[in-house]
Amino acid sequence: MASPEMKSIRQQLPRWLETSLPCATRGNVASYIPELSKAPHNALGITLLSATGESASAGDCGLRFTMQSISKVFTLILALMDNGEDEVFSKVGMEPTGDNFNSMLKLELVRPGIPFNPMINAGAITVSSLIRGSSPEEKSERILHFFKDLAGNDRLDYDMGVYRSESDTGNLNRSISFFLKENGVLSGDVEEVLDVYFRHCSIVVDCADLARMALVLASNGTNPLTGKQLIPRRYVQIAKTFMTTCGMYNASGEFAIQVGLPAKSGVSGGILTLVPERYGIGVVGPALNDKGNSYAGVHLLQTISRELDWSMF
Ligand code: DON
Repeated sequence: MASPEMKSIRQQLPRWLETSLPCATRGNVASYIPELSKAPHNALGITLLSATGESASAGDCGLRFTMQSISKVFTLILALMDNGEDEVFSKVGMEPTGDNFNSMLKLELVRPGIPFNPMINAGAITVSSLIRGSSPEEKSERILHFFKDLAGNDRLDYDMGVYRSESDTGNLNRSISFFLKENGVLSGDVEEVLDVYFRHCSIVVDCADLARMALVLASNGTNPLTGKQLIPRRYVQIAKTFMTTCGMYNASGEFAIQVGLPAKSGVSGGILTLVPERYGIGVVGPALNDKGNSYAGVHLLQTISRELDWSMF
């Protein structure tokens, strides 16, 4: 028997999704990674998974898309598990920037010249350099393996088309990385670090994969359905804090006010979010607003959070 809240979610979700759909027409599908421009502009899908194993889905929840920046939450966690807090936070800060996700402005302006946080590109590239492994291949393999465990999906893999498309055109990320190398933040070969970064951004998921990964965060690092502890609680706490303060980039303040849940967006239109102790949620809507977040996806989460009084604040 479904819980009363899940019953009501299942009943109302199609209507809420319908209401958010027109927002997609106001957004644009990302095209700076050429391969991403093939995504369906008007798609919108969602899957919610409860800590008791109940789920609800609507719309294009089966659409497969690359994680892009959503992967940054989990590479941060893996880097923390590999190196501990002191080492990671000697290379990357804990503050929001108020700038675009791919900005390198503050790297030059603000001393000591380390990235402000691990959710912006500069910070996530630095985090990629901290993943343990003797080669880029081994590091990438460890990341993919970790993501498979979190998603409970052994079939997770890369979209090599998107990977190559980003690797061939990622000159801004290359500039950021060489700047970080000059500042002494990145050590090792810049192209090898970027290879690890581009690969984890290109891991393909659907809404259910994101919901299962989010549920582990909602449950403080344990998969509530198997009882297995996958992440130390402290590192989940750090990740959820970054999601709240920086996960939606320079729209994180607005998202905190309008939705009030920890979340992380990706430029392919995915959003991973959670209701602490209760739900993991995956959303996709490829048309983005000017901050790089899914236009219709944010609208849908705003509706659900208001209707069900889910804000943490
Ligand atoms: O590095 C990039 O630009 C992409 N691989 C990821 C950026 C991203 O997803 C920003 N999210 N909204």
